[in-house]
Amino acid sequence: MELVVDVTEMQALADKARLEGERIALVPTMGALHQGHMSLVKLARERCDFLVVSIYVNPAQFAPEEDLDIYPRTLEKDEESCRGAGVDVIFAPEDKTMYPERYSTYVNVEGLSEVLCGASRPTHFRGVSTIVAKLFNIVKPHIAVFGQKDAQQAVVIKRMTADLNWDIEIAVAPILREEDGLAMSSRNRHLSAQERKGAVLLHQALSEAKALLGEGERSAEKLKKRMKEIISAKTLNRIDYISVVEADSLRDVSEIKGETLLALAVYAGETRLIDNMLIGADDLKSINEEGN
Ligand code: PAF
Repeated sequence: MELVVDVTEMQALADKARLEGERIALVPTMGALHQGHMSLVKLARERCDFLVVSIYVNPAQFAPEEDLDIYPRTLEKDEESCRGAGVDVIFAPEDKTMYPERYSTYVNVEGLSEVLCGASRPTHFRGVSTIVAKLFNIVKPHIAVFGQKDAQQAVVIKRMTADLNWDIEIAVAPILREEDGLAMSSRNRHLSAQERKGAVLLHQALSEAKALLGEGERSAEKLKKRMKEIISAKTLNRIDYISVVEADSLRDVSEIKGETLLALAVYAGETRLIDNMLIGADDLKSINEEGN
């Protein structure tokens, strides 16, 4: 496994792999790799010949008051994990190479970037789309793997890839959860014991909403009300949003008919947690059948 920090060197390795007819996969990450990331790496490994994991804490997706400075950086440990998972290259560039002086080009996916997390983090997805666009141009992947945990990010990246005509498959891997249901995240390590206990309510709220759907409830308002009742309990101190939206357009729905995303963002102390549950067409079909 190679650790590459230089853009030109990464591009040359990607060119060589492509010339040799190899299928390149990219797993973009900000490091602090946990089992959730490693499940993306595993999926990517199975679907390519040449596997690149990028590790870069992208300043452009953090607002000035956000947690850029305390975002965990664990490169040595990440290297070990990647080596064990058969990664070919870790691409870990530096800020001065990704955003040199006079840097001024940004990619913005309009509409999709402004709702849900985008409402309280107005520059976040512009930062994400920009860095992912740059990584696509540097690593030249045939396939890029993202996690369903960041559901909105996956929708934004799919839109950007289609709109900019990149011939890249965007794969989305399922959410990995702790035993009690908490979605794995690099930010979980910031939770106090008390906050960690409360954090499990996010998944409980989503599961309850799905159970209500199973009982035949189709009103988004009722599902949101139930999720709010659960989340408002005790240790979680601030709700950013609890939303029920169309899975691809991220538009609010009032009645659940097609593919739907139940999504929430909640603060446990200073730590902002997000989670979601995708209600696919198949889920709705089996719920309807059980109801009959
Ligand atoms: O999901 C993440 O870790 C980041 O948003 C990504 C995609 C690596 C871009 O910085």
